[in-house]
Amino acid sequence: MFVLGIETTCDETAASVVENGTNVMSNIISSQIERHSKWQGVVPEIASRLHLQKIIPVINQALKKANVQVSQIDLFAAANRPGLIGALIVGVSIGKSIAWKLKKPFIGINHIEAHLYSPHINNKIEFPYIGLLVSGGHTMIVKADSFTKYTVLGTTIDDAVGEAFDKIAKHYNLGFPGGPAVEKVALSGDPKSFNFPLSNLYKSERLYDVSYSGLKTAVIHHLEKYKKKNSYTMADVAASFQKRAFDILLKKTKLACDNSNIKSIVVAGGVSANKYLRRIFNKLRGYNIYFPDLKYATDNGAMIAGFAYYKYKEEGKSKLNIGVYPRVKGFKISLEKNLLCR
Ligand code: KG4
Ligand code: ZN
Repeated sequence: MFVLGIETTCDETAASVVENGTNVMSNIISSQIERHSKWQGVVPEIASRLHLQKIIPVINQALKKANVQVSQIDLFAAANRPGLIGALIVGVSIGKSIAWKLKKPFIGINHIEAHLYSPHINNKIEFPYIGLLVSGGHTMIVKADSFTKYTVLGTTIDDAVGEAFDKIAKHYNLGFPGGPAVEKVALSGDPKSFNFPLSNLYKSERLYDVSYSGLKTAVIHHLEKYKKKNSYTMADVAASFQKRAFDILLKKTKLACDNSNIKSIVVAGGVSANKYLRRIFNKLRGYNIYFPDLKYATDNGAMIAGFAYYKYKEEGKSKLNIGVYPRVKGFKISLEKNLLCR
């Protein structure tokens, strides 16, 4: 079964043809990084306009590279949540339109579920497992029982971990996107230079939740307060932040495994490209650790098409009046109101 996956949730216009969930026949990504870097952040209106310009050429390229005619596609899939509304509308509209014209099924895909699926493209992974999803907008620990059945055990109660990297990079002018920029600077730093604080959320229902806004504020505004030596470099700041940000995720993911008696961990999302993160998880003994191939870690169409294959098999197609949604209920928790975002 050939699936065309379309991804336009943020600043990559991507399309991919995947056969039967894992045979990636093409994976085309048109990045908008250059156009947003002037602002060191994604400008939603620019993102929508660029998706509109690029989406058809990108789909054409994906079909051509896969050597598949559009009429041979069995299922059309597009990410319809969570993401920037104007950006999502572009991908979903084109996916629906082609499916409608060709009388083929269309399926709307949750971008975060597709990230969690991405390590399945290059690994044989058995359920259940504990999934750690780390992206620019989300940080979640889940227990996955099948491709579509999972329980959210914990989330960030404020900033996502990728967001903390991005904001710190922006403040110190390290480059855009912030994650890879901080990682690069951190390479030559001493992670023990700063004793940055990290909120301790260990009480009952917050056992698997994390918080990054305090850490981010400390790194941006209170360096002097947390330094452990007199002279330090930006590399020391970046390395100390990175260690603090990731060690807690390792600890909580391991805790979720031990409390559920599960031995497999799947780490996915853009931040899973980080080598320090990969290293500390790979050091864990007694667990099976899975990451996406680097080309499927950050936003791409292959994870959308691959996941769509299984979602369609389990749940069937979407209705053609399906909408787009900026957030997903239960994927982010606001501490102040103690309410789930909608
Ligand atoms: O999954 P993704 O491509 O888009 C979202 O769904 O958000 O993730 C983007 C996030 C950004 O915050 C980016 O700075 C971060 O992933 N990121 C990294 C690395 N590569 C991307 N963070 C840390 N280290 C990296 N190497
Ligand atoms: Zn993403």
